[in-house]
Amino acid sequence: PVSIAVFASGSGSNFETLVQKAREDEVYHVELLVCDQPEASVVDKAKRLGIEVFAFRAKDYPNKATFEAAILQKLHAKSIKWCVLAGYMRLVGPTLLKAYEGKILNIHPSLLPAFPGKDAIGQALEANVRVTGVTVHFVDEGMDTGPIVEQAPVKVEGDRANLQRAIQQVEHELYPAVVKQCIKGEKATWQRKSVHY
Ligand code: GAR
Repeated sequence: PVSIAVFASGSGSNFETLVQKAREDEVYHVELLVCDQPEASVVDKAKRLGIEVFAFRAKDYPNKATFEAAILQKLHAKSIKWCVLAGYMRLVGPTLLKAYEGKILNIHPSLLPAFPGKDAIGQALEANVRVTGVTVHFVDEGMDTGPIVEQAPVKVEGDRANLQRAIQQVEHELYPAVVKQCIKGEKATWQRKSVHY
């Protein structure tokens, strides 16, 4: 299997399903969790699942280039081939983008380019849309701007908790499957976008 690192900042439900679904067919193996919030519950999940954790606090480093250099060292040491962002609430900087160009994926809880950035679910409710959804895309230097790999719609029904649950359910199906397809080269490969929304 191909070694991947999952980057996360929060509860880690996507991290957990990525780990579980890796066991079905061994296309990839989650070798490392990278987490910028050492107290986040995703760290406990990783420990429970026996997965190595690199947890750091951005404020312990002078800037993004230095903490990303530390991450990079870890990624190289573990022979990581792909980086899979799952609720990693930070922009990826040039250090990681250069080293892993076209090998960084992200999942976002909206149909991009609608509702980029923080609280995409709140933004969708505020806008009163009838349909929102989930996007998997390659990561570039922008905020949720990279080339789209796959999308799935979710109907807006009920309250915020309902929508959150429906989106999570779709994410947990979609993300591991798309990660596998990308690793196997079955999806369109990375091309730098010439136009940004
Ligand atoms: C997921 O819904 C993911 O799409 C979102 O954070 C959540 C993490 O949940 N990501 C973003 O909003 C990125 N801009 P999880 O920790 O339970 O996987």
